[in-house]
Amino acid sequence: MTAHVPVPLLVPDLPAPEALMPYLQRMHAAQQYSNFGPLLREMEGRLLGHFAQNAAVPLALSTVANATLGLELVLAALELPPHSRVLLPSLTFVATATAVLRAGHIPVLADVDADSWLLTPEIARRALREARFDAVMPVAAFGAPHAMAGWHAFQQETGIPVVIDAAAAFGGQWLEAPTGTAVFSLHATKSLPAGEGGFVVSTDAALVARVRQLSNFGINLNPAAKLPVGMLARIGSNAKMSEYHAAVGLASLDRWEACAALRRSRYADMHQALELAAPGALRWQATDVPVAAPTLLCVRLPGAAQRKRLEALCAKRGIGLRRWYQPLLTSMLQIAPECICLPTPVAGAIAADMVGLPFFPGIESAQIVSVARAMGDTLAVQALAIAQLSA
Ligand SMILES: Cc1ncc(COP(=O)(O)O)c(C=O)c1O
Repeated sequence: MTAHVPVPLLVPDLPAPEALMPYLQRMHAAQQYSNFGPLLREMEGRLLGHFAQNAAVPLALSTVANATLGLELVLAALELPPHSRVLLPSLTFVATATAVLRAGHIPVLADVDADSWLLTPEIARRALREARFDAVMPVAAFGAPHAMAGWHAFQQETGIPVVIDAAAAFGGQWLEAPTGTAVFSLHATKSLPAGEGGFVVSTDAALVARVRQLSNFGINLNPAAKLPVGMLARIGSNAKMSEYHAAVGLASLDRWEACAALRRSRYADMHQALELAAPGALRWQATDVPVAAPTLLCVRLPGAAQRKRLEALCAKRGIGLRRWYQPLLTSMLQIAPECICLPTPVAGAIAADMVGLPFFPGIESAQIVSVARAMGDTLAVQALAIAQLSA
């Protein structure tokens, strides 16, 4: 009998201490450890350079302590009236909704597209016929990027601002349209990890300036403003990214291309192994362009029963699985009562049979085989049962 190789769900991939050292030495020499220091500003410049490769207009960018605060501060910077309504997909990480609630607004939970698993401009237009809303926060679910032309058209047509929660989509999500705003995460589990961190990038420089001010308590640092420097201009928070985190972010940028390529290649290996083990049985998230640096791998099984069986088998074999983004926000006791819930049949169907499988850049061939074998064994049991029934 073959021994089963245990596989963790996710292993973070951060730069080694040696790669951090030159940055940490620079930080120590400058004796600046936070408050928009030289490392942070260098990282912001490099990130802006990345987005400039594919931008129609000049962009502005400000780092934040994490994407959750980034989302909350962008909402505050939009200066919507209290209790405004923000349309979100029901299939997302909780932070998308908690940011809206903490900003004093009301999430309106919408469905997602059956192929891309994303809230699309078409779904937002349909939602507008059912409920009024004042902003939209589409999510780049599992790193799948949004084409910004569609959201630019939506914003032009309706006047409703759009902010993309692109937490897991660095590398694939661009701001290629004349308008657009996106928030990215630099969490340890993301493709460009800084341990903790995030940033807001936008075609709207004034919006980004307000986010920066809000991330620094709301204090005015602009000598050209009417208010004296050092005075409180608005009620902000402390959402600054430290120089320590910027050091990790810079070292991650140094190895970005190689890491992204490795992630794509390992993802392709997993995809191939799973398709060989269960030909045609799995449904995958369809993206217009391939995810540039996948961090998670989710598939839909033929049904809820097969998912349960896979979970039981993987638990026995030491293979980590996770029902990412579940339960849906519409079923989450702490969130749903605070929201306006539109019908979400597609998200409901996805949540019934989707599961996250182990995925990380260092995943070994034997571990890939182990996951694929668990999938094959799960679905072969089903095939055998059907054969026995029809015999
Ligand atoms: C869709 C989405 N939004 C927001 C976040 C929060 O990011 P952070 O951990 O940087 O606050 C995550 C984190 O995984 C996420 O997946």
